[in-house]
Amino acid sequence: MKYKAVIFDLDGVLCHTDHLHYRAWKQLADRLGIPFDQELNNQLRGVSRMESLDIVLRAGGVEADLPQREQWAAEKNTVYAKSLDTLTPQDLEPSVLSTLQTLRSRGLLLGVGSSSKNAPRILERLGLGDFFDTVVSGLDIRNSKPDPEVFLLAAKNLGTPPKDCLVVEDAVAGVEAAHRGGMDAAAMGDAARSGAGEYTLNEFSELLNITAA
Ligand code: BG6
Ligand code: MG
Repeated sequence: MKYKAVIFDLDGVLCHTDHLHYRAWKQLADRLGIPFDQELNNQLRGVSRMESLDIVLRAGGVEADLPQREQWAAEKNTVYAKSLDTLTPQDLEPSVLSTLQTLRSRGLLLGVGSSSKNAPRILERLGLGDFFDTVVSGLDIRNSKPDPEVFLLAAKNLGTPPKDCLVVEDAVAGVEAAHRGGMDAAAMGDAARSGAGEYTLNEFSELLNITAA
C-alpha cells in the first residue's frame, strides 16, 4: 500500500463544525461592524483561534490591545462551544464512519491533526473519543497550520515516517502544512476548490480508492 497512516483534519473533514465556526465568527464580526463572508471565513480554516481573530480584525481595519483581543477570542469561543452542545454521534455521516472502519481493517493507522483546542470534546461528542490511534489538537502544539507541527507530531505518535502518511484536509493552510511536513494531501471542500493537494475528494469514501493503490 502507498500509505501506512492517514491523518485527518477535524473541522470540515470528519464533521461539519466549520459551519458552526462561521456562525460564531460572524456574530462577533457583526457586533464589531466588520463585514464577514465565506471568503474571509475560508482564510480562517486550519488557523488557530487567536490568529483567526487577527485576520478578522485586520480585514475590518480594527486595532486592539492583547487583553481586548483575548476577550473577543473568548467571546467567539463561548458562542462556538455552546453550539457544540448540539453535536451527537448522528452528526457523523455514516459514510465517514464506515470509511474509517474499512481503512482500519486494511491495517492503516488513523490519526487526527487539528488546530482546534475543542477537538477532544468534539470527538467525544461524535462518539469517536477512543477511536483514533492518536489525536493531536490545538492543545498540543505551539504553531498552527500552515506550520507542519500538528501533522509531524501525529506522525511521530503513530511511529510512521511522514512520507508514508496521507493527510486529509479542507483548508489550504492544512494542505500547505502537510506538504511542509513531507506528506501528501487529499483535499476536500475549500482546499479542493482551490486545487490544492495531490488528490481531490468529492466524497469522503473516495479515500478507499486512493489508499488501496
Ligand atoms: C481549526 C478550524 O480546526 O481550528 C479553525 O479550521 C479554528 O477555523 C481552529 O479557528 C481553532 O479552533 P478552536 O476550536 O480552538 O477555536
Ligand atoms: Mg478543517
